[in-house]
Amino acid sequence: MESDRLKKAREYEAAHGTQITEEERPVYHVTPTVGWLNDPNGFSYFDGQYHLFYQYNPYSTHWDSMHWGHLVSEDMLNWKRLPAVLAPDTWYDNFGVFSGSALTAPDGRHLLIYTGVEVTGEARGEGVPCRQTQCLAFGDGMNYVKYENNPVITPEMLPEGYSEEDFRDPKIWYEEKEGVYYSIIGASTEENDGAVVLFRSPDLYNWEYVSTLDKGGNEYGYMWECPDLFRLGDTDFIPILPMKMVAKGNEFHAGNNAAYLAGIYDRETHTFTRKAIRSIDYGIDFYAPQSTVTPDGRRVMTAWMQTPETMHRTPPGVKWFGQLTIPRELSEKDGLLIQRPIREIEAYRKDPVYYDDVYVKECTRLTGVEGRSLDLTVRVKPAGDTLYQKFTIKVAEDEEFCTSITYDPADSMLYFDRTYSGFMHYIISERKAHVRYRGGEIRLRLMIDRFSVEIFVNDGEQVMSNTIYTRQSADGISFEAVGGAAVIDVEKYTIEK
Ligand code: FRU
Repeated sequence: MESDRLKKAREYEAAHGTQITEEERPVYHVTPTVGWLNDPNGFSYFDGQYHLFYQYNPYSTHWDSMHWGHLVSEDMLNWKRLPAVLAPDTWYDNFGVFSGSALTAPDGRHLLIYTGVEVTGEARGEGVPCRQTQCLAFGDGMNYVKYENNPVITPEMLPEGYSEEDFRDPKIWYEEKEGVYYSIIGASTEENDGAVVLFRSPDLYNWEYVSTLDKGGNEYGYMWECPDLFRLGDTDFIPILPMKMVAKGNEFHAGNNAAYLAGIYDRETHTFTRKAIRSIDYGIDFYAPQSTVTPDGRRVMTAWMQTPETMHRTPPGVKWFGQLTIPRELSEKDGLLIQRPIREIEAYRKDPVYYDDVYVKECTRLTGVEGRSLDLTVRVKPAGDTLYQKFTIKVAEDEEFCTSITYDPADSMLYFDRTYSGFMHYIISERKAHVRYRGGEIRLRLMIDRFSVEIFVNDGEQVMSNTIYTRQSADGISFEAVGGAAVIDVEKYTIEK
């Protein structure tokens, strides 16, 4: 049942994965068993636990020959590694088993739907001519078998004018009232416009095209990868990855972005009316999010904490490359997508340290506020009537290194800078986000974990996710106000597993 390629991958990860010590990995963020990880896939609750798969190349720390790696967990934080489940071992996925999603099939089996990529010609330039189709695999939570009549969705089923090379990443769900399965899929038109298309099936095996939910009008990249669709409050959200965009104001940077469309999806006509398009995350490292629903009804999303731009910037000596973000609970406020770290993290909080109303002007360190695996909330307020000009928090700090987060209330911009965070490659080190002005107050919750800093701004209104590779001994934290003073409240927990 297990193909040679899957057997080989499983043997390889069993032999090499165990050679990576826990100290070489983040404390509470997902990394591959060994080698390379990109998108989270098949995030689902099946048979009493969470399952999370990921785009995986066990053999090196670079993107190549995509497999699906596998993890299970009771709480989405403490993950147990299971053997890889899918390898590129058939004619229709010989180039790679690309991203997809999961749900429980009516007969109780775990269903995976993924993109099979088939090579159709000789490699030219950077690309390989290919055909992308949507395929099924069924399993018991450990072993999965590809459906014998794969692929079930092919580019020929799209209306005229769509590319067969960019048609991928099916996100599946079951519409209970209708008794119908739906899948939203990323697409690209022959005019190089990103789009999301909707397919449906009564039985998982027979699919038909329903509608094109939205297109970028050539303003938002040539292809939209990894779409999702869910309702929160009165708003329907469609996360997408617009590829190769030009920068737009403070909202979108040049290159590949992670965005969401906010609007109304009419479930009768299958049309989507877009009201807004925004960034999902304003940090340097965020791509390919995927959501699931927990048994208690929360919409939770995780993502690849990296981007295609830094794919080949593997730090020297590492045995794994690629992390997922902390899973985030999603909600809606004023049409915005609000993200907060899942509440399960609270069970891992140790050594609480609290400070109230600390007056900060020159560089200040607080006893007990340091470390590289933290849940740290800092509330910054103006001191008296005059507003400070800048407030900076430095983390992962020693005499040589630091990662800094600076708030400038005059234009309400938040700056992230990882110039001194241990990178040996010339990569993007700075990002900024325009945040809502609140009279010079800002609340920052920093989830720090050895190789990353995720910044949740003003209770999750915005997030900035970033990787760092500073040596672990750099664990200092300091606060400083320039051009005035600030008063801060601090709540710090060490995260331990
Ligand atoms: C997004 C993506 C997906 C694709 C996968 C391949 O990062 O490009 O569109 O399915 O990665 O690894």
